[in-house]
Amino acid sequence: MPRRKLLCGNWKMHKTRSEASEFFHSFTKRLGNLSDVTRTVDVGFGVSATLFDTCLTGVHGSGVKILAQNCHFEAQGAFTGEISVPQVLDAKLSGSIIGHSERRQYYNETDEFVGKKWNALAKASLLPIVCVGETRQERESGKTFDVVKTQIEQSLKQVSADARDKDFVIAYEPVWAIGTGLTATPDQAEEVHKFIRDLLSGAFGPERAQAIQILYGGSMNAANCKELLSKPNIDGGLVGGASLKAEDFALMVQTAKDLS
Ligand code: 13P
Repeated sequence: MPRRKLLCGNWKMHKTRSEASEFFHSFTKRLGNLSDVTRTVDVGFGVSATLFDTCLTGVHGSGVKILAQNCHFEAQGAFTGEISVPQVLDAKLSGSIIGHSERRQYYNETDEFVGKKWNALAKASLLPIVCVGETRQERESGKTFDVVKTQIEQSLKQVSADARDKDFVIAYEPVWAIGTGLTATPDQAEEVHKFIRDLLSGAFGPERAQAIQILYGGSMNAANCKELLSKPNIDGGLVGGASLKAEDFALMVQTAKDLS
């Protein structure tokens, strides 16, 4: 069975509740019935905690996933400012983005930390979207594959056998392409995606690896998404800036649908 495409917006620290509501109004108007869309492609949004309810209302019953942008691996406790996996579950979200390079860069998140979050989410049958990717310096010094391999392998060490059986998504996001307008070329991205799939094949077996969605992230937009999404190992996108405008993101979802 061919892998489904997943287009997931990452709204980062953007939008108020009224802006989120307006977004879904416009998004739905452009795409028509969202339930019809999710019959063919997977669609999701990683949003701030203040927007969970508004977004869930905006996509109600359509199968569009609303996710957190981060969560903690402890079930509860004195961790001011954090959201636990049971809270993500209670909020009726589908999962969480974890290990985004902005979390790694500004909040010192390590592969071990990311792996613990992966483990906690998977155990709760929530979807972890695990972000990996190299910096410009790492790419220029030829370390891209090593960096991505280490990030995945070190995180996986924290994931227990039962949690490994649960679904997850990998997002390859070269740090130099995030928010810069510099996109990896489709060939550059495909090369790393293929490498990741081979790595997953070693860890999970070839059959399972064939079914895992690997997303590209980094200045993906309505103009460049078709070429990227046409590559055999690029199963979708984790989209920052271009997911903030309903018009642009609806076009991208439509492109993914047309390719499916
Ligand atoms: P941009 O699409 O704005 O480059 O952001 C990508 C990203 O970080 C998605 O997680």
